[in-house]
Amino acid sequence: MKLPDPMAARRSCWTFEDAVKGMSELAALAHGAVRAFACAPLLVPWFEAKVAIGLHLEPIVNLYVQLEERRLQLRKAANDCAGICDPLLARMPTLGAEEALALIYGSLLDELIRALERYLASVDHVLDYPSLRIIQNGLASLQDAEAWGKTAVSEIEKLDLAVAPRQTCSHSQRTKPELCSVERPKFATRDASSPSFGGTRNYRAIANCFTGDEYSDRRLELAWINRDEIDAVETFGLVIFDLLDYVPLAMIGDLARSCSDEARHAWTGRALIDALGHSQEDLPVSVIGIGVRAQMTGWQALTQITMFGELGIIRPMLDLANSARSHADTETANAFDFIANDELLHLRTSSSWIRRNHPAGSVKAAEEEAQRVAGSLLERAGILGEDYYITLTKAEIFEILGE
Ligand SMILES: [Fe+2]
Ligand SMILES: [Fe+2]
Repeated sequence: MKLPDPMAARRSCWTFEDAVKGMSELAALAHGAVRAFACAPLLVPWFEAKVAIGLHLEPIVNLYVQLEERRLQLRKAANDCAGICDPLLARMPTLGAEEALALIYGSLLDELIRALERYLASVDHVLDYPSLRIIQNGLASLQDAEAWGKTAVSEIEKLDLAVAPRQTCSHSQRTKPELCSVERPKFATRDASSPSFGGTRNYRAIANCFTGDEYSDRRLELAWINRDEIDAVETFGLVIFDLLDYVPLAMIGDLARSCSDEARHAWTGRALIDALGHSQEDLPVSVIGIGVRAQMTGWQALTQITMFGELGIIRPMLDLANSARSHADTETANAFDFIANDELLHLRTSSSWIRRNHPAGSVKAAEEEAQRVAGSLLERAGILGEDYYITLTKAEIFEILGE
């Protein structure tokens, strides 16, 4: 009897030191890709691109987390290759949106994929099997992002813009990483061709498409609010960008899941609006929430969206799902059952991280800080007074800033 070999041997002359160096480079490249994708939703104006980036951030983060954990298993030390993408990242806020999109998909993601393939081709497949598994799964998880990015970048190239030349951030080209400070924008770029509104979040006062029938009005309003949760994609992205190096890897994984969920919520909201027969252009996009959260620190923005935003939206969505069932409206019931379930998960995981890790020391102190900062930003924007804002209840704050 000859049983099949349980493992395919691929002999390699790579040493343990080669593997440590190779894994350090992979973790650093993935770290750079996470930061670039995390701030990109603020930089690109197009709805489809924000949704795509929000979805793709999750597998990139998951890959980074696993590579970093593996790197630490191989050698518990600081990463010699840290910061190899920083010079490229530092340029991001100065780039046009087309160039930024080409940079993250055409350079950073592509470079990461090529480096993963190089590692796979070099390493001993039995001795370094734990790395092999991470890389094989990681490559498969990046396929959608790679395919979307290729098409998007070729569409951009058709525009014949002066797109930044392809650049690489490979460690092999530098003996010492150039460390430089990398900042993200404090505002969100939006598509000027889509109308938007700020200063209020009163959807019913903004458009005359409400009929007075409470069920259909509520359905339209919550579809619209979910479409506008494109600002939650921007928010979870900036939270990841700001907190990446300061919180446990497991928290970054949870934040990436939230970001990708919010991309699905925005996409679902848009589809529901189409299904209800409304034109997207007739429903302006609310920008007051991101106007405030983009100027906050990562911890403040996370506290704001979790303790004042997500907390406020779950009950209305569950109520709507129940009325949808009594109206035999399965599409609406399904959408809001799933979305409310996602929001409950976000509330549970984020509030637990805030309780355990927020530098203010407690959920109450974190909430007070977020409320104070949001109040002063709203006052500075001339929207309402800080003294008034800090007296508001959570429900009233949700009405103003949303999720
Ligand atoms: Fe959401
Ligand atoms: Fe959420």
